[in-house]
Amino acid sequence: MNPLLNHPGYLIQTSQQAHSLDTYLVKRMGHAYQQFCASWDKLLPDPYLRDGGHYRLRRYSVFNWQSGRLTLLPHEPHYQSGYHNKLHGGFNRHFRPWLPTTIQNPALLEMIRWCVKQFSRSSTQLWRIQAHQFRIRTSAKEQGKPTPEGVHKDGADYILIMMINRQNISGGQSLIYDNQRQALEAYTLEQRGDLMLINDQKIYHGVTPVTPTNPNQVAWRDVLVLTFHRFKKQ
Ligand SMILES: [Fe+2]
Repeated sequence: MNPLLNHPGYLIQTSQQAHSLDTYLVKRMGHAYQQFCASWDKLLPDPYLRDGGHYRLRRYSVFNWQSGRLTLLPHEPHYQSGYHNKLHGGFNRHFRPWLPTTIQNPALLEMIRWCVKQFSRSSTQLWRIQAHQFRIRTSAKEQGKPTPEGVHKDGADYILIMMINRQNISGGQSLIYDNQRQALEAYTLEQRGDLMLINDQKIYHGVTPVTPTNPNQVAWRDVLVLTFHRFKKQ
């Protein structure tokens, strides 16, 4: 287990760092990794935004992971409690699933394998993984909000937040707080492969809004979010 996930409760890895996950993906599965990231062009609008916005596109699928095997679970609505999501909690949201080609992409397996290694000693631990592809669009007319619910927890054990692409974006700074809501970090994931891994039990997180750097051009922020839930024996 990576000790940073115990204290301070999160870690940041840049794509440029030696032995980064991104370096491995580029070297070992460059084409598949490219295809995986290109699938963010196939996301669909989130119709549930309660602030009346049109800035979020997404896809959602759920998996199990155990002993190095990834299993897609039957598609289900996304549910968060009102406690964890004050804006969109307490009701089912029906999002379109990941495309089959994205689900089968070997880069996804390597990302999950890397994550699980960071926070688990046991290879036989069963994990439930909620997998989100997000695109936050913005324009001169509309600010994009990566976390419209504000600073929050996801109700998971661990969370991967990985940058896929920033296109003409200003803002989008990731904010990290401890359980006493003391600010620990404000960090911007800039490059593809820059990532944060968060112990959700110990950390609150949020992201500042995004605006276009050049207001005359299209602008968006693509992010992969995987939430890991330890499957507890009954
Ligand atoms: Fe979150």
